[in-house]
Amino acid sequence: MEVERDQWGSKIGFILAAAGSAIGLGNIWKFPYLVGENGGAAFIIIYLLSILIIGLPTVIAEVLIGRTAQKNPVGSFRQLSQNSLFWTAVGGIGVFAGFVILSYYNVIAGWCAGYVVESVKGSFAAINDPAMAGEFFSGLSGNPLWTLGFHALFMFMTVGIIYFGVSNGIEKAAKILMPLLLFFMLALVVRGVTLDGAQAGIAYLMKPDFSAINERTILLALGQAFFSLSLGMGALLTYGSYMSKNDNLVNCSLNIVILDTFIALLAGFMFFPALFALGLHPDQGPALIFNILPSMFNAIPAGGFFRIIFFLLLSMAALTSTISLMEVITAFFTEEFNLSRQKATIFLGGVVFLLGVPSALSFGPMRDIHIFGKTFFGVADFFASNILLPLGGIFILVFVGWFWGMKKAIPNLLQGIQGRSNILLNIWKILVKFVAPVLVLIVLLFKIFG
Ligand code: PHE
Repeated sequence: MEVERDQWGSKIGFILAAAGSAIGLGNIWKFPYLVGENGGAAFIIIYLLSILIIGLPTVIAEVLIGRTAQKNPVGSFRQLSQNSLFWTAVGGIGVFAGFVILSYYNVIAGWCAGYVVESVKGSFAAINDPAMAGEFFSGLSGNPLWTLGFHALFMFMTVGIIYFGVSNGIEKAAKILMPLLLFFMLALVVRGVTLDGAQAGIAYLMKPDFSAINERTILLALGQAFFSLSLGMGALLTYGSYMSKNDNLVNCSLNIVILDTFIALLAGFMFFPALFALGLHPDQGPALIFNILPSMFNAIPAGGFFRIIFFLLLSMAALTSTISLMEVITAFFTEEFNLSRQKATIFLGGVVFLLGVPSALSFGPMRDIHIFGKTFFGVADFFASNILLPLGGIFILVFVGWFWGMKKAIPNLLQGIQGRSNILLNIWKILVKFVAPVLVLIVLLFKIFG
């Protein structure tokens, strides 16, 4: 039986949903602390170069595979490779990565929702320094009932949206959540830059210190580009498979990349001016959001209100990402096993919840259980974002550039485009065939053996 396939209601619906996938904890939580640890503006410049040279061409290639085949990652690779077992398995790696990433990403997303609740309850009122905030955070994240409860709640919300399908679920959610997210962020940026002493933070984001750059910076920037763009595991492929062949794929991809980059930069402008205004150092690491920030709001006029807004926007950004991960595995199960979407989502929600339990407990009862020197959570994150995503990226590039080949890729790419530019087309070809795969391979090898 051929499953009736849903499509995006509009081009803007696709752009918002895909940008929603890309924009997430990677932009708002990880990007600012990487900037803070790696020299501010200098890191930003390297990041922007990675996005331009590798990110954008790979986004186009991945969306193109999905739009051409109109199937889930496994089905798409199988169809375009004419049943090659190897390439079908490559699609399978993407679905597998979807399971792994969703299982731990949802745990952090759950914390964000939990912090909305704590902010509303007024739990941070008496927490005035980062050390106290850190203790409070360890208490919550180490409490199995609290972490697992919000992990379950977030999974429930994710399933609740995916249950209603592509145009009625994902697209509707993105159309509501994305503008709201932007609005909340702008409110926080205005709050931050109007604080006394904010200029130092703005300067930090604008004046590059190139002495802070070394090979590690470049590796981090490239890895971050992949994670932030949701590249290399079939999320953009799956979203692309619901895209109309009459829409301009290059233009859509460009919009997605610009939105994702803009929001990451905006997140920088949301944190650093406020951080500097309060006399804190920028290099706070991953603790930035859950340790430093909650207490920081107490020193800001109307901070209690802005704290709620902040964790709300963080939860919304995470939600549009968890639904994209869920859609990858849902599309796979409905199409390959002929399950109904409703049954598949409920079943998968349960499975991913269980898979996430060891990650959730990695901050409490299981914090001393180490594999390769990392907690379960640490291993899942390292394995997915440092190995599976770049590997998936290389496969996508090699597939489009060499195996499926440009002869077939280009006519499909040009469908829906009026007026082609041969120069841009040639640049894309060179980046996809040579430059991007080689650079990603170098990064991957460095990450594994470096
Ligand atoms: N891009 C998302 C973020 O920045 C994370 C993500 C990765 C989502 C891979 C889907 C697939 O948070």
